Amino acid sequence: MSRPGSGARRHGDPRNLISIGDLGPDVADGIEEVMRLTDSFVEVSERAIPKVPTLRGRTVVSLFFEDSTRTRLSFETAAKRLSADTMTFSVGTSSVKKGESLRDTVETIEAMGVDAIVVRHASSGVPRQVAQWAEASVINAGDGWHEHPTQALLDCYTIRQRAGGVAGKRIAIVGDVKHSRVARSDVGAFTALGAEVTLVAPPTLLPPSLDGWPVKVSHDLDSVLASTDVCYLLRMQRERMSEALVPSLREYTALYGLTARRADLLPEHALIMHPGPMNRGVEIAAEVAERQGAVIVDQVRNGVAVRMAVLFLLLGSGTEWGGESDR
Ligand code: NCD
Repeated sequence: MSRPGSGARRHGDPRNLISIGDLGPDVADGIEEVMRLTDSFVEVSERAIPKVPTLRGRTVVSLFFEDSTRTRLSFETAAKRLSADTMTFSVGTSSVKKGESLRDTVETIEAMGVDAIVVRHASSGVPRQVAQWAEASVINAGDGWHEHPTQALLDCYTIRQRAGGVAGKRIAIVGDVKHSRVARSDVGAFTALGAEVTLVAPPTLLPPSLDGWPVKVSHDLDSVLASTDVCYLLRMQRERMSEALVPSLREYTALYGLTARRADLLPEHALIMHPGPMNRGVEIAAEVAERQGAVIVDQVRNGVAVRMAVLFLLLGSGTEWGGESDR
């Protein structure tokens, strides 16, 4: 398996955001640019009327072939706060149910004149394929086990906001890394910014090969907690598992769940993160998600401003990733 974010690292993709590697020839610069813009959109989001005319007349469509609560609402809120028109495509009520192909679906949407297509799909590679067919900018909202770049950007932003920056932080990503597009994008983004990442999981929940992943690996959560600045928990993605990879959820929780006892082993300043949806009582104890250091609600809140920044950079700024914006 290739290094996370490596696909487009050398080139960047100025028109689309499919992978963290699309953020420019220097990924760290691209991320920093999104972070700086996000600061101003956080300010917009705090206004009594949280809306700016920046993308008036532009249309953003969400094309979701997989379930989602926060990502979809977050993109739609972001587009609306920038005054873009939004369209939502729900597979369950569309002609996909009548057998319409992905290509015909994309052509139909494009014919209506859209500027951005936000795609989520259970298969890795679908957003890249859609980008080859579409004139509009394509933003990956999660494809299979591959990537979820805006999640990684909002995670970087949240760490920067709550801990002053990502560089030098010791980040443990715990749990079902194998099936996690969030983990792949996060490893790419966190390491580009200079964090030290440790994957903590049983061997069955790690990718078959970690060649080229700039990470450490541990199978013992208890031993890494005391030296962790950010403990990032992943959901057991049972819908993506075709075989039993852990004996039981109870056993998983006993070894890898962030229980109250384990959370006490973290340094006082440590952040506890989760992309949602949480399975309380499995990867995280219900009470731990409410602790001082848990920033799970901040992640959701920051997601809107980060997606405003991404939409602005792709549709509104007239510049490319990593370039100076004229906002
Ligand atoms: C994640 C996803 O769908 O990839 N959720 C999200 O977008 N916030 C993680 C998950 O499903 O566990």
